[in-house]
Parts: sequence; C-alpha cells; structure tokens
Amino acid sequence: MKPAIIVEDLIKRYGDAYALNGLNLEVQPGTVLGLLGPNGAGKTTTVRVLTTLLKPDGGRAWVGGFDVVRQPHNVRRCIGVSGQETAVEPLLTGWENLELFGRLHRLGRQGARRRAQELIEQFDLTAAASRLASTYSGGMRRRLDLAVSLITRPAVLFLDEPTTGLDPRSRSTTWAMISELVSAGTTLLLTTQYLEEADQLADLIAVVDHGRVIARGTAEELKTQINSDRIEVVLRDSELLPLAAAILDHVGTNQAVVIPSERRVIVMTPHEPGLLARVLREMDAAAVELEDVALCRPTLDDVFLSLTGRPAVSEAVHDATAMAVAA
Ligand SMILES: Nc1ncnc2c1ncn2[C@@H]1O[C@H](COP(=O)(O)OP(=O)(O)O)[C@@H](O)[C@H]1O
Ligand SMILES: [Mg+2]
Repeated sequence: MKPAIIVEDLIKRYGDAYALNGLNLEVQPGTVLGLLGPNGAGKTTTVRVLTTLLKPDGGRAWVGGFDVVRQPHNVRRCIGVSGQETAVEPLLTGWENLELFGRLHRLGRQGARRRAQELIEQFDLTAAASRLASTYSGGMRRRLDLAVSLITRPAVLFLDEPTTGLDPRSRSTTWAMISELVSAGTTLLLTTQYLEEADQLADLIAVVDHGRVIARGTAEELKTQINSDRIEVVLRDSELLPLAAAILDHVGTNQAVVIPSERRVIVMTPHEPGLLARVLREMDAAAVELEDVALCRPTLDDVFLSLTGRPAVSEAVHDATAMAVAA
C-alpha cells in the first residue's frame, strides 16, 4: 500500500530561522503518527504545509498521493484539519456550525443536515446542539471543531494539539473520541506536546525538535532505545539522603536527583541485571533504611529528556499557562 503521507526533506524558513530543517516522515494508511515535540519544534508549520496553507521553501510532500504544492486542490479534497485555534463560529449554534460547513463542502441541504446529525451524536453534543457555540466549554468547542473537520469523511485527518489547554477530564473524553475515529480506519497525523497523548493514541511516534525528526518508533521502541532504567528509593530518615544519593550516583548515568519533601532519591541507570540488588546491599551496608524502592522502565518523559536534553512540558505548567491566557 502507498503511504498516505510522505514528507521529504521539507524546509521552511522565516528570515534566517528554520522552522523546518529537513523534515522527513511517512505515514501508512489507517495508522496514527504522533508528531511529538516541544513548543517551537515545527509541528504547526508541518501541518500547515501538509494541508496546503503554507508553501515550503524546499523539499516535497504528498498527501493521499497528491503533491501538496502542485496539486493543492486534490489534497484539500481528501483531508480534514483541526488546528490549534478552532474554526468554530461562536455566534452560530452547534447545529448551524455543522450545517454551514456541510453546505460549504457542497453536501446539499439534506446531506449537510444528515451529516450534522450523525456528528452531533458521535461527539456527544446532542444536549448542546441548539445553543450558541460561544456558550460552550473549552472541551465542547474542541469536540465541535473536531466534528467540523470530519464533515466530508476525510481519508487523512490532521489534528494540531487537539487537547492542549483542556482539563484532564475533557482530555480523556477527546482521546476516546479520537481512538474511535481511528479504529474506523482514518489516517491521522496528530501533533502534541503531551507524552501521554502520543503514548495513548499513536501507532508510531516521531520526536521533532528544531524542525527535524530526531527519533522515531513505537513508544516501546523509543523507551528501549534509550536503554536505561530508573531507580527510585524513599528513605525513612531524611538525614541519610546525601548518603543514599552518593550510593545511587555510583550506579547512575546522571547525577541522582533528591526530592527532600518526599525523602526520595531518583537516578537513571543502565539496563543491567543485578543492579538493583547491588544498590540494596550497599544501602544495607551503609545502614540506610528504605521505606520504599522501585525499579522503573523508562517513561516517554525520560526518552524526551534524554533526546532533547530538556523535560517535556508538564501538564501542570501547561494548564496554568492556558488558564493565565484565558483569564
Ligand atoms: N509566521 C511566522 N513568522 C516567523 N516565525 C515563525 C512563524 N511561524 C512559526 N515561526 C517559527 O517557526 C518555529 C516553528 O514554529 P511552529 O511550527 O509553530 O512550532 P510548534 O507548532 O511545534 O510549536 C518557531 O521557532 C516559530 O517561532
Ligand atoms: Mg503549534
């Protein structure tokens, strides 16, 4: 089968700065690619080029077999897109929004109404459908926007940070709806800053930074690739934290991190059998009493940290920012 999306050495410059700097991707039909990267990595720029809204300065890309620069009309006919800013019209009701987009896409009056009805049910908007979209919560607006992007039953769907700024409950509802879509066979390119979102929804993850892909694979493959485990201990006595940290420093690939308020010490270690037992013996020999101990496989957070040298945006920080913007 031909890939649904092909991206070859894509370049986009703004002045001297490269928003995309040789980006390469391939997405097979019916699969979900998670484009995971921090703010400014080039995710939105990628989506804008692939949805024909922005011309690249170099490289080529095909969506549904069509060249995004030379055959933009064909591309537009097979895609749906839901961006970081919603396309929802606040002074129309949910119904009216969906019917309007249906008419714009030439579904005809009957067709537009029928499709609107289906999507309202699918996205759990029945109770709110006759209210103005301006009265919707953030989560409802996102759902309506998602519904709008699906009016034409696109073969390839682009979702740019679909849950950024949503509270955790709306986020999981949205995830469930996206999963349902995908199981119906839609090809999806999803951008996200949330590791958990990529982990949950994506078949394959491409980690982007500075306009290029720096790692790709399944979530499991990425975790194995960094080839490390994490050891965490919680002490009974906080006075012994420095001693425990010194012992963990010995086996760690980085300096041990001490969290005094939890009497916890954390270190990344090589994936090596017997390492934990050795740590426990050394703690015992030094009379460091442990309340708790854990050997953890790496999380995508650890992967991200080891690849980009900085932690991914934490949800708490992110939500606080979103709230500050909303206020
Ligand atoms: N219209 C623009 N003019 C100048 N710089 C831009 C413009 N759009 C994006 N950029 C820059 O390109 C880079 C990638 O941006 P973007 O694709 O929006 O990143 P992301 O969506 O991953 O946060 C950033 O450094 C951003 O500042
Ligand atoms: Mg963006």
